[in-house]
Amino acid sequence: MLAQRQTDPKGRPVYQLRQVAKSYARGNLRALDHVDLTLAEGTFSSVIGPSGCGKSTLLKIMAGLIPPSEGSVVLEGQPVLGPRRDIGMMFQQATLFPWRSTLENIVLPIEIRDGRQAAKARHDDARALLDLVGLKGFENSMPSELSGGMAQRASICRMLITKPAVLLLDEPFSALDELSRDFMNMELQRICTERRATALLITHSIQEAVILSDIVYVMSPRPGQFVEAIAIDLPRPRTLDMMTEPKFGAYVRRIRARLDKGAFL
Ligand SMILES: Nc1ncnc2c1ncn2[C@@H]1O[C@H](COP(=O)(O)OP(=O)(O)OP(=O)(O)O)[C@@H](O)[C@H]1O
Ligand SMILES: [Mg+2]
Repeated sequence: MLAQRQTDPKGRPVYQLRQVAKSYARGNLRALDHVDLTLAEGTFSSVIGPSGCGKSTLLKIMAGLIPPSEGSVVLEGQPVLGPRRDIGMMFQQATLFPWRSTLENIVLPIEIRDGRQAAKARHDDARALLDLVGLKGFENSMPSELSGGMAQRASICRMLITKPAVLLLDEPFSALDELSRDFMNMELQRICTERRATALLITHSIQEAVILSDIVYVMSPRPGQFVEAIAIDLPRPRTLDMMTEPKFGAYVRRIRARLDKGAFL
């Protein structure tokens, strides 16, 4: 088997995964095979791979939502054994509580952590975040009154309210139309840069992966393994204009070719 290739990340390692594998007991299914991954502080990485190859499984393990069957996950020198405060996670579907207003949903992580009063004290911060994602004026709307894209934006606010140092993003904008998605991706870049956040994005869009990332990891079909790590050498901040540059196109073609090969080792 080919050694897993990984571009040497520059900077302080924040996340370290060693030989992480996952089998789901039911059906005896091997979802993930021996993944090594190091995320350096302040870097943005993406994982791209065919449907069902184990991407969400990987992210859930990193977030401490499910345990790996083998291997270790270490964040800031501490093993990840369950959900943690310094991890922000976003899923493909917005998961807002229908009985709480948008604003109340956003401050929920604070309420769970520090109580009602603390959550109340953060209402202004929550409003500022709503403003940031273009949802000004919707703080009192109920989730059922928001479109899918708007609910996703509210979910971003809820993720950011705790100021997590690490963002784990599972196809967060795939439900958005292309224009909103481009806009949100640029906002995401700005937020990550401002906060020096370390981010890992799962996406099915090669363009999205290239425009946002320092490194793009290509995964093989199940059981998922990294078959290539591609360092994206485009200047920062990235702009949507860069998508028309030949260098951008070359990265996209390289990743597509890898995926077309079935991303086999
Ligand atoms: N809780 C579970 N129990 C059993 N099998 C599971 C469970 N969750 C996922 N799987 C299986 O593990 C494999 C990987 O699933 P996963 O959701 O990680 O894939 P994915 O790469 O995120 O796919 P997609 O791109 O479609 O979101 C799939 O075959 C899936 O059926
Ligand atoms: Mg998934």
